[in-house]
Amino acid sequence: MQHFLSIADFSATELWQFLHKAKELKDEFKTTGHNQPLLKGKTLGMVFQKPSLRTRVSFEVGMLHLGGHALYLSPNEIGLGGRESVPDVARVLSGYVDGIMARVFSHSHILQLAEHSSVPVINGLSDYDHPCQALADVFTIWEHFGRVEGLKLAYVGDGNNVATSLVTIMAKLGGHFSIATPPGYELPASVLADARQLAEETRVTITATHDPAVAVAGADVIYTDVWTSMGQEKETRERLKVFPPYQVNSRLVAQAGSQAVVMHCLPAHRGEEITDEVADGAQSLLFPQAENRLHAQKGILALLLSLSI
Ligand code: CP
Ligand code: NVA
Repeated sequence: MQHFLSIADFSATELWQFLHKAKELKDEFKTTGHNQPLLKGKTLGMVFQKPSLRTRVSFEVGMLHLGGHALYLSPNEIGLGGRESVPDVARVLSGYVDGIMARVFSHSHILQLAEHSSVPVINGLSDYDHPCQALADVFTIWEHFGRVEGLKLAYVGDGNNVATSLVTIMAKLGGHFSIATPPGYELPASVLADARQLAEETRVTITATHDPAVAVAGADVIYTDVWTSMGQEKETRERLKVFPPYQVNSRLVAQAGSQAVVMHCLPAHRGEEITDEVADGAQSLLFPQAENRLHAQKGILALLLSLSI
C-alpha cells in the first residue's frame, strides 16, 4: 500500500508515473468523453478541516469519472482530533472506504492518519505542503512547454505549503527554482536545504532572495499564491503591510519576458498577490492549471486505488 503524503516521498521516476497516468486519463477523457471504470465500486472518504473548491470538486468528479464514489466529510462532521481522535478516525474509515483524502491544519494529522489507516491516505493540503497541487502544476508546465527539465520556475510571495511542494518537485524533476519572499516569510530552512541537496543530483539551481526582480529574471514560469493562508487569518493585517512589493503585476511579468507563463494555485486574492490584468492576461495559465487538478488527481487515484494497474 502506498500513501500520497509529500512530494519528497517519491522518486522522479514515480512522479513521472503519476504524470504519465494523468496524461493518459486526460487524453482518454478528452477523446471519448469518459474514462474506463478503473475504480468501479471503490470509495474515497474526503475529510476536510478547511474550505475547498478545487480539491473537493476535482477529487469527487475524478472518482465519478473512474467509476467510483467519493464522500465529502465536512469540517463540522468528523471533528478530526476533537470529537474523535485522529487514529480512531483512520481506523474507522479504513473499514468503510478504499482511500482517504484529507485536508488538515496540522501536517501531523496527515502523518497520524497514514500511520493508523489500512487504506491509502492522500494529503489534500496541510500547513506544511500541498503535493496534489504541485503534481497538477508540473503537469501543466509539461503540457505547455513539452518538458520540465531545464525550465526555471520563479515563486514570488509567501514561503508556504504550496511553495514547499513546488521547490521539491522542481528539484526532483530537474527544473530550476527561485523564490522571492519578504524577510521573515522564507521557506522553512530544512525544506530549502533538502531541495538544494536534491538539486545537486539533478544539477539545477535553487535560489532564495528578497528581491522579486532577481527571482523572475530568466523565468519560464512565475508562480504566486495568497499572502495569508488558511489558518493564518489573524496575521492578515500584518501581512498586508509587508507583501505589496511582492505583487505579480504586468511590470514584474515583463521582466521575465513574453515567453513566461503565470500560475497561481487559486483561490486568488485579486488586487493583492496578483492583478486582474495578469490573472486574465495572455500569459496566464491559471484556469488550465485549475482544470488539471482533475486530471492529475485521476493519475494519483488510479495508481493508488486500482488493483488492475
Ligand atoms: N488550489 C486549491 O487547493 O484550491 P482549493 O482550496 O479550492 O481546494
Ligand atoms: N497557501 C494556501 C493554498 C490554498 C490552496 C492556503 O494554505 O490557504
